[in-house]
Amino acid sequence: MLLDLIVCHCTLPDGRDNIDIGVQDGRIVALQPALPAHAAQVVDAGGLLVSPPFVDAHFHMDSTLSYGLPRVNESGTLLEGIALWGELKPLLTQEAIVERALAYCDWAVARGLLAIRSHVDVCDPRLLATEALLHVRDRVKPWIDLQLVAFPQDGLLRAPGARDNLVRALDMGVDVVGGIPHFERTMGDGGDSVRWLCELAAGRGLRVDMHCDESDDPLSRHIETLAYETQRLGLHGRVTGSHLTSMHSMDNYYVSKLLPLMREAGVSAIANPLINITLQGRHDSYPRRRGMTRVPEMLAAGIPVAFGQDCCMDPWYSLGSGDMLEVAHMGLHVAQMTSQDAMRQCFEAVTTTPARILGLENYGLHPGANADFVLLHARSAAEAIRLRAARLKVWRRGQLIASSPAPQAALHLQGRPASVTFLQP
Ligand code: FE2
Repeated sequence: MLLDLIVCHCTLPDGRDNIDIGVQDGRIVALQPALPAHAAQVVDAGGLLVSPPFVDAHFHMDSTLSYGLPRVNESGTLLEGIALWGELKPLLTQEAIVERALAYCDWAVARGLLAIRSHVDVCDPRLLATEALLHVRDRVKPWIDLQLVAFPQDGLLRAPGARDNLVRALDMGVDVVGGIPHFERTMGDGGDSVRWLCELAAGRGLRVDMHCDESDDPLSRHIETLAYETQRLGLHGRVTGSHLTSMHSMDNYYVSKLLPLMREAGVSAIANPLINITLQGRHDSYPRRRGMTRVPEMLAAGIPVAFGQDCCMDPWYSLGSGDMLEVAHMGLHVAQMTSQDAMRQCFEAVTTTPARILGLENYGLHPGANADFVLLHARSAAEAIRLRAARLKVWRRGQLIASSPAPQAALHLQGRPASVTFLQP
């Protein structure tokens, strides 16, 4: 059998080692030790980790790489970020959004990040960002699966015209229904917005992903309404609550009732560790709350939890580089997920779990899946997180689309090795 590509001697994220991956016509056709086949091209992974591509389940591509425009966020709070974005919106051009988004997608490819769910702000009657990102979605399709969420940043009921704009964005081809109930004028309006948006999604057969309870208010409980509406409308497995930071501060008894309701409704969750740890707890003195949602507790309750990047150099966050291992690294620390199993769950939170949340087809490392995978400079999932490991090679449909050198530092020490690579000896 002559294949297009074999990557041999791979270690997989689940711990299997010495695996050969055979590729033909853009698909994985075999995955086993000592594959009895030849290929036009053979790459020896040398025991290093080969992972399915990284997936970012929560991002804002319309604001990315705009840091400093028109000014920086001085307080560092969510609310100043929203106000700052409001100042920038009238100044945006479609060309500038497209250019910045494409530049970010180049970074993503280099990081092995090949699927992104991006929210796009639809509180602009021109729907400039929507048009721009629909264009970007087509442009990057050969490399990146970009899924767009119609996101009413200024409130579905609070912002004039937001409902019409959101429906227009869906008509234009935006994939997912978004929301922001905690930003509506009242808890009642927030609940009404959740109901209206879930009914809209049910009517159109779409998925739902809402910014939900992104505050430190222990009484912000829109996730309960989201789980209820999911159950009522039969949207099981298609609805996600993003952020859910209020859960950090909720009463423990209430959470013990809430998590089974989420599980029953098949609602998944997305925490955004980089952003949650910098934005939450800003109104506290000390002790200061971390603010990230209850990740290990939700996982233990059977609720899928992904980690998203949320922002990269924009009004809310001045750092980031499309590195989902940085996101997993932060999530691991903030949630104190330090056991071997928990570290593997953190790796899954930026690969297989968000792939399920996005509904990606043919994702993963198994025969029949797309030949999309990443060779990392690490020997295990935990080591990949520890090192934010270099993406030595990135393949999409069996084609090499990015490569990076392995990090190595030269040493000039008597009686010691000439170089170090930071892999566990
Ligand atoms: Fe967000």
